Amino acid sequence: DWSMASFRDEQVAKIRAQVGTGKVICGLSGGVDSSVAAVLIHEAIGEQLTCVFVDTGLLRKEEGAQVVALFRDHYNIPLIHVEAQELFLGALAGIDDPETKRKTIGKLFIDVFDAEAAKIDGAQFLAQGTLYPDVVESVSPSGGPSAVIKSHHNVGGLPDYMELKLVEPLRELFKDEVRALGRELGLSEQFVGRHPFPGPGLAIRIPGAVTPEKVKTLQEADAIYLDEIRKAGLYDQIWQAFAVLLPVKTVGVMGDARTYEDVLALRAVTSSDGMTADFFEFPWAVLGRCATRIVNEVRGVNRVVYDVTSKPPGTIEWE
Ligand code: XMP
Repeated sequence: DWSMASFRDEQVAKIRAQVGTGKVICGLSGGVDSSVAAVLIHEAIGEQLTCVFVDTGLLRKEEGAQVVALFRDHYNIPLIHVEAQELFLGALAGIDDPETKRKTIGKLFIDVFDAEAAKIDGAQFLAQGTLYPDVVESVSPSGGPSAVIKSHHNVGGLPDYMELKLVEPLRELFKDEVRALGRELGLSEQFVGRHPFPGPGLAIRIPGAVTPEKVKTLQEADAIYLDEIRKAGLYDQIWQAFAVLLPVKTVGVMGDARTYEDVLALRAVTSSDGMTADFFEFPWAVLGRCATRIVNEVRGVNRVVYDVTSKPPGTIEWE
């Protein structure tokens, strides 16, 4: 792509001019935007960049390990992997209100990130994967980590105590352009094509109080769902697809025995920007395979339902 190749060259030159010999910190979320920003900045300034990845334990199955492998092993980019899973799950214990969950995660995320950033001696710059729609909207709607980072660090500038200057090479781009730039930089199709993922992660896909066991169950079910969607060749037609672990038990039967276990809801929507969305019209056979596999392979789930609500009036997420 000619235009992306020249954008890449322009931005590399601009980053070098801005940063000089300074050090840059970049927060990675595991998502496409921050990853593309990091790879671009690394191309410009190499080892002057350090990435910080706060692993909340609320990512999809194995996604934390994938981020570490991609940056540390594949790109050889200096990466601080903060294993904060227990910290986040501890902070969330017993909290069942959706907004309180978001605030708890957002605040802790900032605290952990700032503590790590402060350890990087002499850093003068903070890199963010801010996109054009973030600049325009100023803050994403509901306030999870990425939204909090956005409101604290991105658009309105930085809190005084973090006297870091911003490096935001994606500020002029829309999502599809970021994906094109990611391809241009050699990121895999599977990686750049990833569905959006909310900052508060799986915590807002577990209505009620979050426990480590529930997170594990949801990760397993979600991985099977996405696997079947990919096998059916439908992943790229869908804006977001995910599972929600409900705080409801129902009766089932397994062999000769009665079971009494959790219900799992599946959600998939089409959308162009997340503001409005339609439920995705799966072939029944695909949904049937998902249900069969999830009930057979995931301990503690004995029933699967599909959400056919569009947005509005429903939201995409359940919390
Ligand atoms: P809703 O559920 O409001 O979601 O229809 C619209 C889009 O926003 C994502 N989303 C979030 N993203 N922090 C984020 O970074 C959040 O707190 C948050 N809540 C929802 C959601 O996944 C969908 O793409």
